[in-house]
Amino acid sequence: MTKAILLLCLVLLLIKSSSSKNTLPIGSSLSVHHHSDLITSQDNTFTCGFYGFESNAYWFAIWFTNSEDRTVVWTANRNTPVNGRGSKVTFRGDGAMVLTDVDGMVVWETNTTSTDVNRAVLLDSGNLVLMNAKGKILWQSFDYPTDTLLPSQTLTKSKILISALREGTFESGHFSLNYNSINVLTMIYDGPEISSVYWPSPDPGFNVWIYGRTSYNSSRIAVFNNLGVFNSSDRWQFSASDMGFGIKRRLTMDHDGNLRIYSLNESTRSWSISWQAIAKPCDVHGICGRNGICIQGEKQECSCPPGYEWSNTTDFTLGCNPTFKKTCGNSTSFGFLELPHTDYYGFDLNYSSPISFEACRDICLGDCSCEAFSYRLTGEGFCFAKSALFNGFTSLNFPGTIYLKVPRGMKTQSILAGSKPTCVDTTITIMVGSPSMYASLKKRVKWVYLYSFALAVGVVEALVILFGWWLFSGKNELLVNLEYGYRMISSQFRGFSYQELKKATQDFKVEIGRGGSGAVYKGTLEDERVVAVKRVGDVSGEFSAEVSTIGQINHMNLVRMWGFCSEKKHRLIVYEYVENLSLDKRLFSSSFLQWKERFKVAIGIAKGLAYLHHECLEWVIHCDVKPENILLDHAFEPKIADFGLAKLFERGGQNSEFTKVRGTKGYMAPEWAHNLPITAKVDVYSYGVVVLELAKGIRLSSIVAHEGEEEEESELTRFVKVTKRTIQQGNELCIEEIIDPRLGGLFSRHQAAKLVEIGLSCVEEDRNKRPTMDSVVQILMDCEHEM
Ligand SMILES: *[C@@H]1O[C@H](CO)[C@@H](O)[C@H](O)[C@H]1NC(C)=O
Ligand SMILES: *[C@@H]1O[C@H](CO)[C@@H](O)[C@H](O)[C@H]1NC(C)=O
Ligand SMILES: *[C@@H]1O[C@H](CO)[C@@H](O)[C@H](O)[C@H]1NC(C)=O
Ligand SMILES: *[C@@H]1O[C@H](CO)[C@@H](O)[C@H](O)[C@H]1NC(C)=O
Ligand SMILES: *[C@@H]1O[C@H](CO)[C@@H](O)[C@H](O)[C@H]1NC(C)=O
Ligand SMILES: *[C@@H]1O[C@H](CO)[C@@H](O)[C@H](O)[C@H]1NC(C)=O
Ligand SMILES: *[C@@H]1O[C@H](CO)[C@@H](O)[C@H](O)[C@H]1NC(C)=O
Repeated sequence: MTKAILLLCLVLLLIKSSSSKNTLPIGSSLSVHHHSDLITSQDNTFTCGFYGFESNAYWFAIWFTNSEDRTVVWTANRNTPVNGRGSKVTFRGDGAMVLTDVDGMVVWETNTTSTDVNRAVLLDSGNLVLMNAKGKILWQSFDYPTDTLLPSQTLTKSKILISALREGTFESGHFSLNYNSINVLTMIYDGPEISSVYWPSPDPGFNVWIYGRTSYNSSRIAVFNNLGVFNSSDRWQFSASDMGFGIKRRLTMDHDGNLRIYSLNESTRSWSISWQAIAKPCDVHGICGRNGICIQGEKQECSCPPGYEWSNTTDFTLGCNPTFKKTCGNSTSFGFLELPHTDYYGFDLNYSSPISFEACRDICLGDCSCEAFSYRLTGEGFCFAKSALFNGFTSLNFPGTIYLKVPRGMKTQSILAGSKPTCVDTTITIMVGSPSMYASLKKRVKWVYLYSFALAVGVVEALVILFGWWLFSGKNELLVNLEYGYRMISSQFRGFSYQELKKATQDFKVEIGRGGSGAVYKGTLEDERVVAVKRVGDVSGEFSAEVSTIGQINHMNLVRMWGFCSEKKHRLIVYEYVENLSLDKRLFSSSFLQWKERFKVAIGIAKGLAYLHHECLEWVIHCDVKPENILLDHAFEPKIADFGLAKLFERGGQNSEFTKVRGTKGYMAPEWAHNLPITAKVDVYSYGVVVLELAKGIRLSSIVAHEGEEEEESELTRFVKVTKRTIQQGNELCIEEIIDPRLGGLFSRHQAAKLVEIGLSCVEEDRNKRPTMDSVVQILMDCEHEM
């Protein structure tokens, strides 16, 4: 009998002692150097005690006992870690729980002095509570969340979730979630320089109804329950994808500014994301710092725009600094850099809609505090002048373009060290801008590397592949120094040895073309890139320097130059190989292009030429635009070949006019014959001939002698004469009769009429009457989608 009682006592004692593991009685303490000084919740889910990293820094914390990295959900002293020796938590006799550092300094304490608390208990919910003998809670850790909300923990108007500064640290960061002054839960970036709401909508006057929220319930309370459902008084509701009881979860405001629900897999002890607030990480504000740009790929990356460099290469959140000096100057001392699909959110000096591109540009030029302007052509012209550049992002889906104000003649040395880009000399003065939506205003060719990044996904992929090792091996996974990326792309342009090219072309075996300037051979480089190697004859000027300049020109509609060889008497240029045939073979033969492709080719050539004409500080004139020089890639996207060489072969006199005629008869503008100054309008003329040929499907450039006529006359002259006469007589042009009959009537009447109209205006005798390539692009793009 006594034995039985003894046994019962023992069992009771055991139960008591095991249950007391979750309780700390008043008067006791936890010491940092006793690793067994821990409180564990009854079901063993949570542990409370000192948590430290390898460094001598400790936090009084609560963590998940059984997650692989002991995930911390709460700390008492997140911004003031204590020493690994001598620090302790004391549950003092006066009722306060106090954390003291090695020197006895109080780092943290509860507001329970002079109360009747008698124990601290770690509940199964992860809540550390101080209660009195009757079980009344006088203090609880749930009232002081850090970055995590646990199931059954409420978020109220006085509480705020603040992210950690970096992954793996507890220090307060810059992102937070709490109720704003109109009772709506919001996420805010509050950084050293700016603060900005980024969710649910960054717009100051946003209508909460759009988001299904209400601002009229001022109870301001949200609960995250054990089912995985979050329910807020502003009607915001969401749930974990694995909704249901029995799964351990946490809702955490992460260091990257996103709010996520994590669910614990208890067999692998790892966390998986079962919900997140923001799908596109670049929608979070502040992540790339001042002037920085967030690039939305599969991962999110920060970069600096051309002309800017990291202010701290180990911490990209600190943004980028300009490499040029910001001065007020007058409006003629500035140019603009164009970054397509890019915007900086907020800090608008002036917003106007709808206004023209030039008006928008002038607002920025006229305002000393304007650092950039954003222009969007989605129906109307939306113009935003910016006083500061924060929250930058590039996304292929973004319809606008940002134009950064930079000093004229700025050298973006950090991108391409040492090289000096100039294009072919011309007699034309430079304008500051032009209204083209897709491209304009670029004063230097260098930053094309950014566009190629933004525009050509293929290039992005190439970059990622090239840098895969660097991206994913570095400590800071998100930090991608794009400047480095630019250098890589630009260094694709390089010098080759003659031996190398001899090997690549198998001793110049396969000749794929022969033009005025030399023969072209097909070859394969060691890195398996297929190339076209052009052997050029006598050149004047500094071959390497000139070619290096051209090599920096990079546009989707221009054949890319990858390098050159200048060895003894050998002069070779290495181009990308364009697989489909040249336009002449796709127009004047039985394998002719359909209308859709022809229109695409017309736009593409226009874009390529506009790029050459308007995007270099000194323009490049092609001087030999003709179907033979227009190559088609696998998708029939045209690429203009042979540009930029004019200077090499025909070096102009001191007044930098071309002294020798270049070009191909039939495509040549009258200026050549009349010895007038050669301007970009000669290319416009040639383009006009090509466009009319695209429309009619025959060579208009050929000279035909007609019976009974004395003078030779080209098809073109005849065609122009006939149509002009028709128009002068007040008759409508019959588009059906003009367009290539081989198309069997399958073409867009509207597009065809536009194309013919453009073609005719381009071949005007008076070069001043011809349009610029920019405006041609604009007109064609406007009817691109019409049928
Ligand atoms: C301690 O602070 C909490 C939260 O501010 C409050 O609810 C509680 O009443 C305070 N306790 C005492 C004993 O003052
Ligand atoms: C959320 O709270 C509202 C108001 O208390 C309630 O009507 C609604 O049913 C709750 N939703 C869920 C999923 O619990
Ligand atoms: C406000 O929200 C709370 C919590 O969701 C809810 O209980 C209450 O009914 C709401 N009040 C009104 C007026 O909708
Ligand atoms: C936990 O992870 C294992 C291994 O990945 C998986 O087989 C299991 O289905 C997961 N359990 C849950 C509840 O997701
Ligand atoms: C850059 O940032 C790191 C981490 O924030 C800091 O340790 C370092 O001192 C900074 N470097 C400079 C040059 O400011
Ligand atoms: C702007 O400055 C340039 C040189 O710095 C000067 O030649 C030009 O006259 C100035 N223009 C105006 C409008 O002040
Ligand atoms: C904004 O631009 C418009 C249009 O040019 C102008 O009329 C207005 O004065 C500008 N406002 C400010 C504050 O600069």
